[in-house]
Amino acid sequence: MADNPTLPELIDMQIRTTGPMSIATYMGLCLTHPSKGYYKGADPLGARGDFITAPEISQMFGELIGFFFVNIWQQMGSPKEFTLLELGPGRGTLMADMLRVACRAEGFRDALDLRLFETNPALIAEQNAHLEAYGAKWVDSFEKVGPGPLLVIANEFFDALPIRQFVRGKEGWHERMVGLSDGKRQFGLNPTPVPITSMPERVASAGENEVLEVGFANGEVMSRLGRIASTQGGAILVIDYGYARSQTGETLQAVRGHQYADVLAEPGAADLSAHVDFEALGAVASKAGLAIHPLATQGDWLVRMGINERTKALSGANPQQADNIRSARDRLVEPTQMGELFKVFCAASPGLVPPGFS
Ligand SMILES: C[S@@+](CC[C@H](N)C(=O)[O-])C[C@H]1O[C@@H](n2cnc3c(N)ncnc32)[C@H](O)[C@@H]1O
Repeated sequence: MADNPTLPELIDMQIRTTGPMSIATYMGLCLTHPSKGYYKGADPLGARGDFITAPEISQMFGELIGFFFVNIWQQMGSPKEFTLLELGPGRGTLMADMLRVACRAEGFRDALDLRLFETNPALIAEQNAHLEAYGAKWVDSFEKVGPGPLLVIANEFFDALPIRQFVRGKEGWHERMVGLSDGKRQFGLNPTPVPITSMPERVASAGENEVLEVGFANGEVMSRLGRIASTQGGAILVIDYGYARSQTGETLQAVRGHQYADVLAEPGAADLSAHVDFEALGAVASKAGLAIHPLATQGDWLVRMGINERTKALSGANPQQADNIRSARDRLVEPTQMGELFKVFCAASPGLVPPGFS
């Protein structure tokens, strides 16, 4: 093997040495291998990257989330010290839009301790350019946040965390693995089944060959943050594509250059993601002591938060941009675009009434 093996070579070597790897291990290597992972390379966002996200479509997205957090902070009695943590802040656009609005509330900026959790050095540089003025600091461990209330925002972060897949067999669930056949990466099954009783009850009656995806990493992140928010007070807002009830079905996907790609073909070159199981996320947050609010679609939530009024105001103030502003609103809200696929999840300290959830 070459002195500086590529990520596909490293993965294949690991399989040859230790045997087939779980999809979670494969995803973890593809996305966050310390030097060759997808999220360790160039900025993947935008028209020339691999995908585009809601904050990059319109400033209104971040502004309405900014209002959301001011409202929560005020409901908590406008504490003099609190942490606002963003998971996977991309270019920092979402947080910059949020804070432009939120810091108009008296006392918010002085009380703010801004923390970012990010793995990509290219994106950290962009976040720094947008958010240095707010004293942003990067954390590598959630337990390092301050002692005040914790407010968390994550847009399209949880879908990027590794999942495991299990295929229903006669005797139980067999984990799907990535192995090599004739030197080519292929999916296979672990022959030893996991008992049916170890999996969520909701999928106990699944038929043979149905696929169950389990986001252990999602659960771990939510559990840690949920415990802190529950002890110190706070709220966690998660926006992502996903499903409301735990269910079977395959959602693992690869995207490169705005096109679907083969999950196994180009490790490290394509984005890998999976839909988020919001029921499972809610169960973990609830166990940590937070109240779970009814899951909303992104479209409904943005409308309840006032996106239509904001669209009118912005287009009135920028008539030459009015068409672009309206089409950005449609892209975020309409069910045929992002409005229904994307969901808004909120777990908060009991007693808080998060805006936008009916
Ligand atoms: C799909 S992008 C979303 C970016 C941003 N939230 C937005 O909406 O534009 C995923 C973000 O999560 C970061 N990320 C992915 N996996 C991560 C991990 N394991 N640890 C920390 N950050 C991660 C990426 O670098 C990127 O900033």
